[in-house]
Amino acid sequence: MNNYFSQQFASLKELFKAYRQSQRCLAAFNVNDNYDLKAVVDAANAQNTNVMVMTYPPVAELLTPYTFSGMVKGIRYNAKNNVYLHLDHSTSVDLCKAAIDAGYDSVMIDGSHLSLSENIKATIEVVKYAESANVLVEAEIGKILGRDVVAKSADDYLAGVADVKALYEQAGPDIIAVGIGTAHGYTPEVPKIHFDRLEQIAQAVSAPLVLHGGTGIPDADIQKAITMGIAKINIGTVVHTTYMKHTRTGINEAGDAAYPPYLMKRVLPKIQEVVEDRLKAVNVLTTAKVL
Ligand code: 13P
Repeated sequence: MNNYFSQQFASLKELFKAYRQSQRCLAAFNVNDNYDLKAVVDAANAQNTNVMVMTYPPVAELLTPYTFSGMVKGIRYNAKNNVYLHLDHSTSVDLCKAAIDAGYDSVMIDGSHLSLSENIKATIEVVKYAESANVLVEAEIGKILGRDVVAKSADDYLAGVADVKALYEQAGPDIIAVGIGTAHGYTPEVPKIHFDRLEQIAQAVSAPLVLHGGTGIPDADIQKAITMGIAKINIGTVVHTTYMKHTRTGINEAGDAAYPPYLMKRVLPKIQEVVEDRLKAVNVLTTAKVL
């Protein structure tokens, strides 16, 4: 049998449908430049797996979506398997459109801060624009904790089953990020995933579901969530903190003589190591289901 995680698909939409059905999950890593992009692809090559790289809006805005899309096109020559490019957490419909125009494979329109009807409206606009380019659209409902998101009770952040259904049926996104208790970044305590809510959502909609806040989720929870309908997991903080920590050490050692490519040659294996560690946690066959 071919490697189960390097399977080729006609499109990213087909990949996610198959992944949800067969209880597999595509690991998606937030990257910021050419260096961590290379480290993620090196890790995916070493693990012989498809992978997704994602740019947050500040990265896409600073470098332009065309620049990042061009870098990913270039790095694909050195990739053994598929490398998909995604725009992460865009609250702007216009930025989603710019990324689609620039050749991104996938965009997220994050309307989780809006009312349900406004979220549906924004998602519809992006879905319509993405359609002709065959670009995948991720929507979000409920809230991911951490950073600036403050929640008083579970009702503040947990995705409501009826809301997920309404967003899916009325706006038609391909995949849906759901607030089920995870948090962006490192948190003082291990985030408690509401598996009961995940189960209800997965029963209500057939869409592949997305788990955000991948840094700090115990491996067993990741693997359990994958068996319950999570087909994409977002992992960011552990990548950029590793990048910054080892870059800082290298600069401190080299002082004024610090030269980016020499420094990065030593930093990249450190990033690759943590990415490979996360790929191993995600690419676990928890089921005997084979397509
Ligand atoms: P972490 O930074 O917690 O890994 O989460 C990343 C994420 O969810 C990006 O959308």
